[in-house]
Amino acid sequence: MTSDIVSRRSLLQGGAALAAATPLVPALAQGNEGMAKKETGGMMPVSMTVNGKDLHLDLDPRTTLLDALREHLRLTGTKKGCDHGQCGACTVIVDGRRINSCLTLAVMHDGDKVTTIEGLGSPEKLHPMQKAFVVHDGYQCGYCTPGQICSAVAVLDEIEAGIPSHVTQDLDKVRFSDAEVRERMSGNICRCAAYPNIIAAIRDVAGEDVSGENRA
Ligand code: FES
Ligand code: FES
Repeated sequence: MTSDIVSRRSLLQGGAALAAATPLVPALAQGNEGMAKKETGGMMPVSMTVNGKDLHLDLDPRTTLLDALREHLRLTGTKKGCDHGQCGACTVIVDGRRINSCLTLAVMHDGDKVTTIEGLGSPEKLHPMQKAFVVHDGYQCGYCTPGQICSAVAVLDEIEAGIPSHVTQDLDKVRFSDAEVRERMSGNICRCAAYPNIIAAIRDVAGEDVSGENRA
């Protein structure tokens, strides 16, 4: 009986202690919420050179480079296909290397040089790769095309720089071939399947035979 009373008393005491502590819970929650707001809601300054222009943005740190370009800078040439690194539609060139802009945060590129399709050429003065895509009909709907072109420009630079790929036979002599181009462009998907014409355009810019013969 005594132990029953004690246990009931303990229970009541415990309940009273819990009740006394209860007001703290929302207070703590409010405090955390405040902190969370500070950590995730605060803007962060980012400076980038985009297509030769020095730009400054204050961004939510969760903003991808793709969204910064499209939504904040209105450079909508760069496309959003999958938004998770599977299609290559969002390819841009950052400090000379092509990347999927949907897979990287804008704040990670403070001080970087970013080139988008708008920075490669203009309708009046097309980049040789843009011109070659037109000449060889390297697109149909065109949605993947900005990414394809940015990627293709960087691919030729990679080959020129002697950077090997998974299909490079001789690591000391990285040479242009269709196999190299197919491998290196494999991250750029074209739902319209304009692949043969895309290869022809890239061959043209590389100064290779575009007749369909002598292809590796
Ligand atoms: S949108 Fe970035 S890879 Fe598809
Ligand atoms: S041209 Fe339509 S997806 Fe490539």
